[in-house]
Amino acid sequence: MSDLHSSDLHSSDLRSSQWYAGDDRNAYIHRAWMRRGVPDSAFTGRPQIAIANTASDLTPCNAHLNEVAQSVKNGIYEAGGVPLDLPVVSLGETQVRPTAMLWRNMAAMATEEMLRANPIDGVVLLGGCDKTIPSLLMAAASVDLPAVVVPGGPMLTGTFRGVPLGCGTDVWRLSEEVRAGTLSQEQFLRSESAMIRSRGHCNTMGTASTMGLLAEALGTVLPGLAGTPAPDSRLLEGAHATGRLAVDLVTAGRVPSTLLTRGSFHNAIVTLAAIGGSTNAVVHLLAIAGRLGIDLTLDDFDRIGSRVPLLVDLQPAGRFLMEDFHRAGGLHAVLREIRDLLDPAALTVTGRPLVDHLDEAPTWDPEVIRPRKDPLIAEAGIAVLRGSLAPSGALIKPAAASPHLLQHRGRALVFDSIEDFHARVDDPALDVDADTIMVLRGCGPKGYPGMPEVANMPLPQKLLEQGVRDMVRICDGRMSGTAYGTVVLHVAPEAAAGGPLALVRTGDIISLDVAGRRLDLDIPAAELAQRRVGDSTAAAFADPKRGWERLYVDHVQQADTGADLDFLLGSSGSAVSRESH
Ligand code: FES
Ligand code: MG
Repeated sequence: MSDLHSSDLHSSDLRSSQWYAGDDRNAYIHRAWMRRGVPDSAFTGRPQIAIANTASDLTPCNAHLNEVAQSVKNGIYEAGGVPLDLPVVSLGETQVRPTAMLWRNMAAMATEEMLRANPIDGVVLLGGCDKTIPSLLMAAASVDLPAVVVPGGPMLTGTFRGVPLGCGTDVWRLSEEVRAGTLSQEQFLRSESAMIRSRGHCNTMGTASTMGLLAEALGTVLPGLAGTPAPDSRLLEGAHATGRLAVDLVTAGRVPSTLLTRGSFHNAIVTLAAIGGSTNAVVHLLAIAGRLGIDLTLDDFDRIGSRVPLLVDLQPAGRFLMEDFHRAGGLHAVLREIRDLLDPAALTVTGRPLVDHLDEAPTWDPEVIRPRKDPLIAEAGIAVLRGSLAPSGALIKPAAASPHLLQHRGRALVFDSIEDFHARVDDPALDVDADTIMVLRGCGPKGYPGMPEVANMPLPQKLLEQGVRDMVRICDGRMSGTAYGTVVLHVAPEAAAGGPLALVRTGDIISLDVAGRRLDLDIPAAELAQRRVGDSTAAAFADPKRGWERLYVDHVQQADTGADLDFLLGSSGSAVSRESH
């Protein structure tokens, strides 16, 4: 029944034709094993589009992506392509220990390698939960095949006792209330099943929401799709359209390296500030840029983003949730307000600039998406601090901090691990007051390992009971995008890499000056040098013996450059390797 003629088998300059074209033994093998009911036409010049899918029951935020993939497939077929399921490493933020971040680079590497190794011409990237979109974009940048993201979308708003419940943010808030004695343990546990109302990822402006929106600001999402709630029919409609678009991308030869420029990252940084997005986006954007050889630095975040107004009143910085954001007009309504701050030349997967897609972008609810002239906070972007305690930099998100603590001097109270912290923090005899600066170290990329989200240390119980709701905290780890507080994080170099954080002692004076962008340890340099001699603090952190953890600790870079592995920087492209038989 085959009407395949050898002339058809040479008819294409697609990458996949290096597997499927021709009538030799190897082409026969490549086709024969893929047949299984597939028509001849699948092998005669139709773009082969992988659907890199992070669906997994253990990544519950992405579990619905198989249904999304079906819509993508329909679109690919319709546009004349061949869709191919490619399940890839998936990271569930809440389940994976010691932290999903330990495997972001592994997921990126595995996805990159599988895209390159297979007969694929383009890829649709399905992600959602925090690390999944960053790892997919890192992979796509390094293999440099035409790629487009479908963000899986946030879940719907859950309510508890008549009040909306924000994923993550309200877990922190309610558990602090239990510890402060203002909420019963029973009520707290009852909120558990109300927290996650539907399919989708966290509905606050946490890392997943942030990275979905930034993927669109970078130009890698069908314009208007990011932020669509996971159960909303329009997500499937957009997934279908994205499948069609993926085929067009292959035809146009539109690869990430032609699409993602400095201007794209400029737009992502402006967006990050305007939406009040997660601090985690800083390490992810730096890592993606590193794959493209774009010289993006920590200082670019402060320079480009710190004076951008916060327009979105979403938790954790504000009140509302992603369902409200989408109803209010979504990302385009925000970007339209700050259009003049965007790079007009930066392109999207449509082949047109991002700014061209903002003409019809009304705001339907100015409470949720504020007008430029009435921002939630006038200057809201992430601030980059430097000083004797953070020579390579540290971050603070002023929008999530307490204004009265942005300039502060206090005594350090040092914890050498999160276990040490938990063991001592609620001890009634702990020498701590509201002015103390809590320091947690050993939580950087190498030290933990994997740079977990522990920087937003819970406050000591006795201070909570006194009504204290925020303190300055300093850590070489990250914090959840759903968290809030006056937290200095991503301190680099980390303690385990020999950063000065390793030399701080309880009782030392630390000064934080966010306006002056300083973080200093008030100890003479000579004394610090003396402390360094024979100091064993850094040596006490993680020292894995084998496997991925060993490879990771040996090669991971510091947070200020994106915490990627040194040998994964840059791109290997999509060149087809030698034959397998
Ligand atoms: Fe998956 Fe928050 S836990 S997005
Ligand atoms: Mg997280």
